[in-house]
Amino acid sequence: MTVHFIGAGPGAADLITLRGRDLIEACPVCLYAGSLVPEALLSHCPPGARIVNTAPLSLDEIMAEISRAHAKEQDVARLHSGDLSVWSAMGEQLRRLCTLGIPYDVTPGVPSFAAAAAALGAELTLPGVAQSLVLTRTSGRASAMPETESLEAFAQTGATLAIHLSVHVLAELQERLIPHYGADCPVAVVFRASWPDQKIIRATLGTIDPAIGVGERTGLILVGPALKAEGFEESRLYAGDYDRRYRPVGTEPRFPEGQE
Ligand SMILES: C[S@@+](CC[C@H](N)C(=O)[O-])C[C@H]1O[C@@H](n2cnc3c(N)ncnc32)[C@H](O)[C@@H]1O
Repeated sequence: MTVHFIGAGPGAADLITLRGRDLIEACPVCLYAGSLVPEALLSHCPPGARIVNTAPLSLDEIMAEISRAHAKEQDVARLHSGDLSVWSAMGEQLRRLCTLGIPYDVTPGVPSFAAAAAALGAELTLPGVAQSLVLTRTSGRASAMPETESLEAFAQTGATLAIHLSVHVLAELQERLIPHYGADCPVAVVFRASWPDQKIIRATLGTIDPAIGVGERTGLILVGPALKAEGFEESRLYAGDYDRRYRPVGTEPRFPEGQE
């Protein structure tokens, strides 16, 4: 018996890996984090599967579901939105599974920042503009930010920021980020990326209207000069005169054919 943690992707039912879909099809028990996992994915569950929305359950209740399946030697598909490596609450479940000696594995999913960037048709790392992407959030009721991980500290690097769980505090973000990026720095907010009702708002830090986030929860905020998508250099990798292993150039190539 194994608990298969599966990244369910950002919302579109076909943005799940083939491995994830096959595991759902093979598991007689499916536990899904209901608030963001698309119900359409549940159509992959086999007939008669036990399907439980864990949104209203406590961690103890979720572990009781898993322990019941373990006692019956039934594999479990455990679905969380996006990818499991960020803000999935997988860590605490894995810790309990280790203590109980219940085997698990993890199948990655498409994270929401990637779905948001795709919706914008944007590369978030552009040569000479930004070469780092910071996945971050602001403090919430359930989780405070560690002191050293302030938005200001990240902003000082000028990297592209992908700010999660924060569409309700846009005014605060403006106040904290304008001193570092400037009021004309581009911002994009992608609500429900990849869902049928996806919505995109583009603005600058100075012009973004904080009211767009009121009453919304599922939105990703991208901030940084890379979003302007202009004034950047072309990558050297594909430059005609760039000598590389797969395309030797010049009379004395660095990697002569056939040599690593
Ligand atoms: C609990 S976190 C889950 C993150 C998820 N594990 C991931 O890989 O993106 C929820 C936050 O992720 C972002 N998010 C999740 N799905 C999204 C989507 N389809 N569109 C925009 N933002 C999304 C929002 O910022 C939301 O507040």
